[in-house]
Amino acid sequence: MALIAWSNMLSTGISEQDNQHKKLIDLINQLNDAMQAGKGAEVLGKVLTELVNYTVFHFGYEEKLMAQHKYEDTPAHKAEHTKFVQTAGDLKKKYDSGNAVISVEIMNFLRDWLTNHIMKTDKKLGQSLAKLGVK
Ligand SMILES: [Fe+2]
Ligand SMILES: [Fe+2]
Repeated sequence: MALIAWSNMLSTGISEQDNQHKKLIDLINQLNDAMQAGKGAEVLGKVLTELVNYTVFHFGYEEKLMAQHKYEDTPAHKAEHTKFVQTAGDLKKKYDSGNAVISVEIMNFLRDWLTNHIMKTDKKLGQSLAKLGVK
């Protein structure tokens, strides 16, 4: 079973942002499935790398939107991104050097962080952009 299911509750109203969130959810689900299936480090490491890289790309996309539209909550939103990239980067480093495993706790952390960030911080950005006519 998927760890995170997409629903309209997660929609920000901005279609490209929603599509990228769906891809992030898909990668987290893939990582969870691989962990549950007991896949080896090669598979897990590959998905983890893809997740970290896509997260960086996605945050860059949102930060560009914020800059383009002079979004007022940019600093707080960016700070959440930066902190998460640090945490995920640390996890990847530890994993790659054999000092961490992908656990249920880690998967729950990823799920909770992403869904909370989308529902609070990203939705707020989406609402603000919608007012400016961005779709
Ligand atoms: Fe986002
Ligand atoms: Fe965000």
